[in-house]
Amino acid sequence: MRKILVLDDETEFCDRIAEMLRLRNYLVKAVYGLGQARVALELESFDVVLLDVFLQDGSGVDLLGEIRKRWPETAIIMMTGMEDVRTAIECIRLGAEEYFLKPVHNDELVFAIEKSLKSSRQQSELSMYRDSGNYPIIGESEAIQEVRSLIERAAANPDVTVLVTGETGTGKELVARHVHMQGRRSQEAFIPINCSSIPESLIESEFFGHEKGAFTGADRQQKGVFERANGGTVFLDEIGDMEVRLQTSLLRFLETRRVHRVGGGEIDVDVRIVCATNKDLQKEVDELRFRKDLYFRVNVLNIHLPPLRERTGDVVLLARYFISRQKHNHRNFVITEAGIRRLERYAWPGNIRELKNVVEREMILARGAELDFVQLEHGLVERPEESVPLEDGRLHLAVGFDRPVSLDEIERRVIEGALTYCSGNVSRAAEVLQLGRSSLRSKMKRLGIG
Ligand SMILES: Nc1ncnc2c1ncn2[C@@H]1O[C@H](COP(=O)(O)OP(=O)(O)OP(=O)(O)O)[C@@H](O)[C@H]1O
Ligand SMILES: [Mg+2]
Repeated sequence: MRKILVLDDETEFCDRIAEMLRLRNYLVKAVYGLGQARVALELESFDVVLLDVFLQDGSGVDLLGEIRKRWPETAIIMMTGMEDVRTAIECIRLGAEEYFLKPVHNDELVFAIEKSLKSSRQQSELSMYRDSGNYPIIGESEAIQEVRSLIERAAANPDVTVLVTGETGTGKELVARHVHMQGRRSQEAFIPINCSSIPESLIESEFFGHEKGAFTGADRQQKGVFERANGGTVFLDEIGDMEVRLQTSLLRFLETRRVHRVGGGEIDVDVRIVCATNKDLQKEVDELRFRKDLYFRVNVLNIHLPPLRERTGDVVLLARYFISRQKHNHRNFVITEAGIRRLERYAWPGNIRELKNVVEREMILARGAELDFVQLEHGLVERPEESVPLEDGRLHLAVGFDRPVSLDEIERRVIEGALTYCSGNVSRAAEVLQLGRSSLRSKMKRLGIG
């Protein structure tokens, strides 16, 4: 889970932001002064720090400088109650990712957080790529060989839009990167965008950019993704979840290959679009959630990734590959005969991502060098799915059983999950579960929790 430090001496504001972020599944620490913040930073590492500018015990700008120097990986977002252009410029110059004027809009703050997390992740991913070339696509099954030849064909046609489909964890993003890397665009940018996570109010400017002064808050010109990726590839992930309004804009872009900046003129861009989805787009079209004309536009070259359970032959190859990729493999791990049978019999609902997790966990838990994957027998496998907050502020809890269980057991797991998530606070857990506090109490008593 991503860790965020919030510093603001208006305690109410600080707590409200912290609470809002917790509901969205971040680990949050709230502090009310510079001293407290410095202690927290010494003791723990944070992915993002939200920083107020004017504080009773000093200036957030000083702390900004210190954090930049000592913890360069930590992203910093400034929030201030007073509009002051000079401070804003100073903060950006010192390396803040964003600068918000209070009151801060929740969705926009979360979006800025996600964006800064992604850019630091992307940087490390980029250096990973440079070190290791590109990650290979492992597998000898007919299905994967077909995928390889489709990637080649896509790479040879650098303007063709590609649609990558397949269940979760089957390797859609990996394939999208190969399409980019193997073609003539490989020296240019590859920009992944998750279509389901952009707040509606920011969609147009995120995609198409805006001119300075196009709307309140647009204090500088910003290029949209298509413009930033000019020459390269834009990877539109989860396109099946794209807002209808954006579908219309995207269609217009695909037809004209021109972007229209909000409040500005039109610019020609040359990018390849690769889309991915785990949804059945034809069905989305039939049920009127996805524009038919856009579907035809994006479904020019379809690369479909079959689920892992349909290519059992590749399971062991992949498992050995993930073992070999382990950095500290001093033990020379081997998979036992029984282990191979278990790997091949398991259904892999989370596909290759789940396999990777299972292999890595098995290596950590193994006593010697032999891996027998006994865990798979007992259905004790961790699901790849994570608990995620839903749009309306409720929480989706991952329970992950893969054997028949009683309702009581499910109820217990859900309640325990909610309690852990709310750090043991029963009232908050009741809220998350949309129950009265007293009915949650009585359920806990019946199930023997707490
Ligand atoms: N054929 C393969 N060979 C080696 N590694 C693979 C292969 N396919 C997928 N992987 C690895 O499995 C993991 C999941 O792949 P990826 O993120 O591309 O899946 P995805 O289809 O985009 O999943 P989701 O729908 O959940 O976003 C990654 O670590 C990826 O490198
Ligand atoms: Mg993906």
